Amino acid sequence: MAWSGVLLIVRALVLLQLIPGILSWGKEGHYAVCKIAEGFLSEDALGAVKALLPDYAEGDLAAVCSWADEIRHNFHWRWSGPLHYVDTPDYRCNYEYCRDCHDFRGHKDICVTGAIYNYTKQLTSGYHNSGSEIRYNLTEALMFLSHFIGDVHQPLHVGFTGDEGGNTIIVRWYRRKTNLHHIWDNMIIDSALKTYYNSDLAIMIQAIQRNITGDWSFDISSWKNCASDDTACPNLYASESISLACKFAYRNATPGSTLGDDYFLSRLPIVEKRLAQGGIRLAATLNRIFASQPKISLKHEDKRPTSCILCLLCHTIPFLSVALPIIFSCLY
Ligand SMILES: *[C@@H]1O[C@H](CO)[C@@H](O)[C@H](O)[C@H]1NC(C)=O
Ligand SMILES: *[C@@H]1O[C@H](CO)[C@@H](O)[C@H](O)[C@H]1NC(C)=O
Ligand SMILES: *[C@@H]1O[C@H](CO)[C@@H](O)[C@H](O)[C@H]1NC(C)=O
Repeated sequence: MAWSGVLLIVRALVLLQLIPGILSWGKEGHYAVCKIAEGFLSEDALGAVKALLPDYAEGDLAAVCSWADEIRHNFHWRWSGPLHYVDTPDYRCNYEYCRDCHDFRGHKDICVTGAIYNYTKQLTSGYHNSGSEIRYNLTEALMFLSHFIGDVHQPLHVGFTGDEGGNTIIVRWYRRKTNLHHIWDNMIIDSALKTYYNSDLAIMIQAIQRNITGDWSFDISSWKNCASDDTACPNLYASESISLACKFAYRNATPGSTLGDDYFLSRLPIVEKRLAQGGIRLAATLNRIFASQPKISLKHEDKRPTSCILCLLCHTIPFLSVALPIIFSCLY
């Protein structure tokens, strides 16, 4: 017993050494997303969340928002690594579920948006006692979902395949050598904390919350909106992310460049808004999952098959775009 305890600690220490921030939104970013979400949970959702949280969370969702990062390098959980992101073909500034949601071996649905559908479905059918006989661990489903809704809002979690979402783009952040992905996960937030928020994450979260009830209050309902009554709509968030990645993250961040004040000051507002949107949408998703009135049709939940049929169509579009004009010109 004692030995396995020591071994566990040693392993934890080794792990901490090996993974200096190659994770998603750093701990701070995920904490902020979940903390913001907590303020917008319905009574039903809050009750369900508290019942599912592990004891050590002490009723605080934000306390387990980085759980998915903490476990992902444990061999037991290695399969979950590809669920943290979705990459597009190089220099494509749009996202398509069927084209992009797969792991590097091409296995379908293994990506952050696929995972959000997966865990939304597990929680929905688990909560309403409908669905399959397979009993998933809903505590894990909740912790994964809360983490991945944060991740899909980090623009470089929907980046290009070739540079692994900015992970292989080595740049300087002021004087420190790092990679572009890490800057978006951690450094922008860290620099903001030091520069504006007295190194206190709670103060930064309050500033974002003030904007949610102030400047952004008219946008909130559109942020929450999910097309056609879906429970989760990660495809929309992923599309926004790749667009922001192209417009802001990759721009002026060529390998070897030094990013400083210009980059920091223009990108920080993007980061703060994404944290706000992540929080609002996590709450909205949980509120829909744990609504006391179950949805009329659960079949409707899963958008994947439909989008895959559409994707089949999209492969035939190059053909159609040639054929249709000819067909139409024949008709008229
Ligand atoms: C769905 O969740 C189960 C249970 O955690 C997991 O085994 C499976 O790989 C997940 N699939 C996706 C696409 O997230
Ligand atoms: C569910 O998952 C949590 C976190 O991995 C674990 O602590 C707990 O023991 C699991 N519950 C069951 C019933 O397996
Ligand atoms: C608050 O909103 C304003 C206007 O959109 C923006 O410039 C500022 O960066 C925001 N601050 C925070 C903390 O989100």
